[in-house]
Amino acid sequence: MGGRFEGKRGLVLGVANQRSIAWAIARRLAEEGAQLAFTYQGERIERYVRDLAGSVSSPLVTQCDVRSDDDVARVTAETAEAFDGSLDVLVHSVAFAAREDLEGRFVDTPRDRFWTAVDVSAYSLVSFARAVEPLMDARGGGSILTMTYLGGERAVPHYNVMGVAKATLDSCVQYLAWDLGKKNVRVNAISAGPVRTLAARSIAGFPTMEEIVEQRAPLHRHITGDDLGAAAAYLLSEEAQNVTGTTLYVDSGYHSVGM
Ligand SMILES: NC(=O)c1ccc[n+]([C@@H]2O[C@H](COP(=O)([O-])OP(=O)(O)OC[C@H]3O[C@@H](n4cnc5c(N)ncnc54)[C@H](O)[C@@H]3O)[C@@H](O)[C@H]2O)c1
Repeated sequence: MGGRFEGKRGLVLGVANQRSIAWAIARRLAEEGAQLAFTYQGERIERYVRDLAGSVSSPLVTQCDVRSDDDVARVTAETAEAFDGSLDVLVHSVAFAAREDLEGRFVDTPRDRFWTAVDVSAYSLVSFARAVEPLMDARGGGSILTMTYLGGERAVPHYNVMGVAKATLDSCVQYLAWDLGKKNVRVNAISAGPVRTLAARSIAGFPTMEEIVEQRAPLHRHITGDDLGAAAAYLLSEEAQNVTGTTLYVDSGYHSVGM
C-alpha cells in the first residue's frame, strides 16, 4: 500500500512485542510509506523490538525509560540525527501501573506508586511533546497520538490508578493541543476497547472486561490491532488536518451505552 505517509518521519514509543498496540500502529504507518524510529524500555524486550523495527527498515532503535529526562533528551537528539532535524509523527503508546494496584482497591494505592503511574502514563506525553516540538516546527507542523481508555472517564473495576493516570493523560491531550496548535502540531487520543497485550495481562479481571464488551457493546465484538492502526493512520495523516484535542473511540461502541 502506498500512501499518506510517503516522505513522513515518525517516532514510536511503546513497542514491547508483536501484540503491542504501538506495533499495530507502526505497521500501518510503515505500510503507507512512513519511516519510523522506535524506542524500547529495557534489555529484556530489546531483541523483539529490534526484530520488528528491522522488518520495516527502521533507521533508529534505541533504549528509553520515559521517567528519565536524560533518556528523553538523548532519544530526541538521536531522532533528529536520523531524520535530518525533523519529525512529522509521534506515537505515544506507553503506560505502567504496579500489578498489585490493578487488583485490589484504588483507595489503597500508595503515594509512590500513584505518582509512578501518572509519571509513566501521562507526564511522558508532555515531556516528549515538548522535546519534539522543534523537530515538528522544522516541518511546519506535525501530529501526536496517544492511547487512552474509558477507565479514565468512569470507574472501571480493577483499572484503579491507571484510570486516574488516563484522566490526567486525557486532560494533557487538550492542553497540549492548545499550546501546540499555534505551531500546527495536532494532539489526539484513541480510546481503545480491550486488546490482549502484555500490559492488559496485568489487569485483574481483564477477561471479564472482554466478556462484557461482547455482551453489551452495540457491535458485540472485539476490536483488533488493525482497527487501531487504521484509526491512528487517519488521525496522524493530513486527512485529519483540522482534528485536534480529540478522543476517537475504537471500542465497538461500548462507551456509548449506559447499561
Ligand atoms: N490493551 C488494551 O486493552 C488497551 C486499551 C486501551 C488503551 N491501552 C493503552 O495502549 C497503550 C499501549 O499498551 P499495550 O496494550 O499495547 O501494551 P504493551 O505492554 O504492549 O505496551 C505498553 C508499553 O509501555 C512501555 N513502558 C512501560 N513503562 C515504561 C517506561 N518507564 N518507559 C518506557 N516505556 C515504558 C512498555 O515497555 C510497553 O512497550 C497503553 O497506554 C495502554 O494503556 C491499551
